[in-house]
Formats: sequence, structure tokens, C-alpha cells
Amino acid sequence: MQSLISIASSLEDFRSVPISDDWAFSDAKRSDTTYITHGYHRYPAKFIPQLARRLIEELSRQGDTVLDPFCGCGTTLVESVVSGRHSYGYDINPISILISMTKVRRIDPSVLNDTYEQIQFDYWSVEPVPPNNERIDYWYKEEQKTDLSRLLGAIQKVEDVDARRFFLCGFSNILKNCSIWHQKSNKPTRDFKKRIPDVLRTFGRQIRMMLKGNATFYDLMRGEKLLASAECRDSRQLPLVNGSVDLVVTSPPYVTSYEYGDLHQLSMLWLEGLNDLKSFRQKFIGSALRRSESESCAYEAHTRSSLAAEIGTKLEATNGKTASSVISYFQSMYEIWAELHRVLRVGGKVSVVIGNTSLKGVEISNAEVFVEQMRSLGFRLFDVIKREIPSKNLPSTRDKATGRFAKKSAADALAYPTEFVLVLEKCH
Ligand SMILES: C[S@@+](CC[C@H](N)C(=O)[O-])C[C@H]1O[C@@H](n2cnc3c(N)ncnc32)[C@H](O)[C@@H]1O
Repeated sequence: MQSLISIASSLEDFRSVPISDDWAFSDAKRSDTTYITHGYHRYPAKFIPQLARRLIEELSRQGDTVLDPFCGCGTTLVESVVSGRHSYGYDINPISILISMTKVRRIDPSVLNDTYEQIQFDYWSVEPVPPNNERIDYWYKEEQKTDLSRLLGAIQKVEDVDARRFFLCGFSNILKNCSIWHQKSNKPTRDFKKRIPDVLRTFGRQIRMMLKGNATFYDLMRGEKLLASAECRDSRQLPLVNGSVDLVVTSPPYVTSYEYGDLHQLSMLWLEGLNDLKSFRQKFIGSALRRSESESCAYEAHTRSSLAAEIGTKLEATNGKTASSVISYFQSMYEIWAELHRVLRVGGKVSVVIGNTSLKGVEISNAEVFVEQMRSLGFRLFDVIKREIPSKNLPSTRDKATGRFAKKSAADALAYPTEFVLVLEKCH
């Protein structure tokens, strides 16, 4: 990739950057975006593998180490290993780690076939013990609660760690279908009229899809000795030594958009015994906050960005709570950039996929704020790509009142018709 942009001023406005058509990947079919292990599990706002792959190939070499500090469902990790790079992923969400680790593990298909047979056999003899949690009763009918606990009991008997994780990942992905969570909603909404499918049959379909993906991945990665691992961490503090990373490929969370804590609560209830949803939610960068004590005069000191301070001040005039959430978000993102600066080698690059948006009528220029923050740490802007987002999986509108992602309605403005890929290089 050639450096295309030379912007001299310290504060830029990327609105005039032209759209690069060849970064939209609009001809990618579902089979292209779910190839090998990519289709194992739904995940909100995952990026398409083709985008991660192109960044990895253009910005690093074979044998390099690629990091994703917000690894989500592991798209960067999978694309790194299939293109011959080592990769590390971190995420605050334990379910993200379950999915990512499953997707980068090459497992002997015959082991999985035998294990699956054993699980189906054990299912009938396992004593169903549903987690003792009122949230489980809130989301599940008795029949599915019993069947799911039998299934989980049978999976937990599997001794091989990789095989057990594979089936737990499959189990996690059927939890929404088998609950009364409104199938088409990303928000925690109950649908009392939902027709709930049979648990074992749903699991069977899920596992057959995953077995196919693993078989292809197993053949593709034959003989490879690449490292790929994911760990549950707050990425403001990474367990990596200084200068050990060649490239970062990531897409950060947005402010007050997805509540990842809410979205993954079903898996957290069944697999991690979640009983304090509120505290879990607050661990995520971008989660909505209560109004904080921070004074608007301290906004710039907190975020190290004059633009972020300007945005905070504008929001303060209309809604103090949103101002606090946004300032806290930019403050956390600054801490992320500082940590990435520490772990990257000099000359290493960070590529960040991010869209700008608006909240309470105020433009939230994430891309411009990030660049200002990163420059202050010793990064230089190497490239800015503007791409259209053709994916049907991505939400395209925001609810004007709450700022949350919502279904498209004619009255709503498009929230992310385009997004930016920022590429920054560590200079010193
Ligand atoms: C936009 S998603 C990343 C999706 C990913 N690119 C993929 O393809 O699946 C942002 C991720 O940031 C994670 N996250 C939020 N706060 C975090 C923190 N403090 N440390 C690490 N990860 C965090 C969320 O759990 C979420 O998975």
C-alpha cells in the first residue's frame, strides 16, 4: 500500500476523502464471507474477512505478528493465519474468546465426528440441571431449558479441550434461536409468539455447518506452525512486550451503539454463570454511562483531543449524560492507542476501521478524533480509505433519540453509509 494522503494540518476533516470502490467488496457473496470457519457464530459488527485480508496482505509480511485488540469473533485472527502471519487477539467479552479460539483451532475432523456421536449418545443419560438464574427463566420456556441443559451437560463431559470448545461454540450460537428473544432484534426483546425450534435438530444443523468449515480449514492449514491465540482482557493493558507487534488490524466499539453486554447475555448466562449484567455491561468501551463529574473544561485533558473536547462541549449543551459517555469513550480510546504504540515496533502500522456518526444532533467524528489522538502519541497518518458498507449484516441507521443502532426506516438518516480505514504508522 502506498501512502496516498499527505495532510499537513494537525486537525483534518475526512468528509472530502473520495470513496474507494475497490474497498467495498460489494461482489462478496455470503459463501465468501462465511468461508472456512468464519460462519461459526453470529457477532455484531464483525468485519468482512476480505477487508481484514487485504489490510494484512498489504501492510505486513509472511511470518509477521498481527494483533487485534478488539478481536470480536476473530476475523483478523483467522485471516492472519490463513495468510501466514502469527496473530494475537484480545477482547473483554469471554464469548468473543470462545468463538475466536474455536475459529483458529485446526481440529482433526475424525475427532470431532466421534465426539459428536458421543454427545448425542450422552444427551439422553445426562441429568438436566438448568442454571439457577432468573434471567434463564426470563428467556427460556421449560422444554428448551431442559433440552439445553441436557445438551450442555453432554458437551461438558468431553475431555479434549479443543473439541469441547468447538461444541460449546456451536451451543452458544443456537441459544438465541432456542429462546424467546425476538429473532430479528439485536435488542433484548421478548417475542411470546416465537416458534421455538427443536434444540437437538437446531444443534445438529449448526454442527454440520461447523464440521464442514473445520474440514476445509484443516486441509488449508496442513503443515502450518503459526501461533494464533485469543485472551479475555481489557486491551488498555496488554500482556505483550514492547515492540513485539508488526501490524494491528482492528475495528473498535462505537459509543452507546451496541451494548455488547446485553447482546451476549444468553451465552454468558449458560456458559459463564453471569449474574450481574449491569457490571458486565460497564466493562465494555462505548457502553452508555451515568452522568460523570468531569467538567467540560477538562475534556481535552482527558481525551488528548481538542476535537473530542469540542464534541463533548456541544453535547453537554443538549444532554450531559451523552457528553459523559462520549468523553469517557474517547478517553478509553486514547488509552488503547497508547497501549498499541507501546506494543508496536517502530515502523509498524495500525489499521482502524471506523465510521463517523451523530448523537443528539452532534456529529461524532470518530475518525478525526482518533487521528488527532494517535498523532499526539507518535504515529503518522499513512493512509485514509473511505469505503462503502454494502454488507446486509451491518445496521445502517441509528435511532435518533437514543443513538442506538436500529432498523432502517424511511425517516432515518443513514448512520454508516461509509466508513474509514485509517492507517497510521509508528514513527518513534
Ligand atoms: C466492533 S467489535 C469488533 C468486531 C471484530 N472486528 C470482528 O470481526 O468480529 C468491537 C469489540 O470490542 C470489544 N471491547 C469493548 N471494550 C473492550 C475493552 N476494554 N478491551 C477489549 N475489547 C473490548 C467488544 O467486546 C467487541 O467485541
